[in-house]
Amino acid sequence: MGRRSLNDRRVLLTGASGGIGRELALQLAPFGTRIAVVARRETQLLELADELKGRGASAVLTVVGDVTEDAVRTDTLQRIRDQWGALDLLINNAGISAHGRFENSAAEVLRKIMEVNFFAAAELVRGAIPLLRDGEDSLLVNVGSILGHRGVPYNSEYCSSKFALRGWSESIRPELARDGIALMIVSPGTTDTEFFEHLIAKGEQMPWNQPRGLPPEDVAAQIVRGIQHRRFEIYPNWRGRLLVLLTRIAPWLLDRVMNRYG
Ligand SMILES: NC(=O)c1ccc[n+]([C@@H]2O[C@H](COP(=O)([O-])OP(=O)(O)OC[C@H]3O[C@@H](n4cnc5c(N)ncnc54)[C@H](OP(=O)(O)O)[C@@H]3O)[C@@H](O)[C@H]2O)c1
Repeated sequence: MGRRSLNDRRVLLTGASGGIGRELALQLAPFGTRIAVVARRETQLLELADELKGRGASAVLTVVGDVTEDAVRTDTLQRIRDQWGALDLLINNAGISAHGRFENSAAEVLRKIMEVNFFAAAELVRGAIPLLRDGEDSLLVNVGSILGHRGVPYNSEYCSSKFALRGWSESIRPELARDGIALMIVSPGTTDTEFFEHLIAKGEQMPWNQPRGLPPEDVAAQIVRGIQHRRFEIYPNWRGRLLVLLTRIAPWLLDRVMNRYG
């Protein structure tokens, strides 16, 4: 199979009001996509919608809402069904995190992070499968993290949610393939977005200095290329690629390093 075309595709993208999601929407627009963007912040979403039209999107649906709400997910899919008939590309990008020792954190933090990063994504896909089945050269993209490959101290809730997302993605990939729906996992490392300002709990700081992140434009560009080149998984940051390599060939080494930081 050749490169996947993005021309005139029908796209649903969560977490589009800022960061990686916003950049991704802007880079998909020039292909003439019909794009539905979801997030809670209305002002940012409406501004984005104007920009998307200016950049060539052929239709924009804005959905102001919380992806953890069943009604938001159902209404979004219904609007897409009514207006476009089917879906070619679903990108689960909305995500949140928290920092702190697990013992000092709270049950609500773990539940909230799992709700946004895992359950909402999974249930959106469950509802979207019939639309993707009717789509053209359909693809599901799940934005995970390098921390879905390796757990690190003081970030246990987030790591758990991204491990869950990756394990679930691998499980459903063959199920979806039967219906002609492909699946790509994105595993970014640190990216310069407002992600760390949006932490829902700020307990103990991560025990190391935050590495310099990639600009979200670069991450978005790599996601677009990954989509076009039919990749199974992409790792936008070189540090992330190194971490995954070490996780595979020398997990004991990483265990020793992490133990020093616990
Ligand atoms: N930044 C990093 O270093 C990094 C590294 C690895 C992976 N990632 C992953 O990349 C993805 C994007 O993160 P980012 O860096 O772009 O962070 P960001 O700038 O904080 O953007 C997160 C997006 O998710 C949306 N969102 C959060 N909770 C939501 C909810 N309940 N319902 C609907 N939308 C929600 C936010 O919109 P509203 O607040 O308007 O709802 C925002 O548009 C996430 O899945 C994250 O885990 C980020």
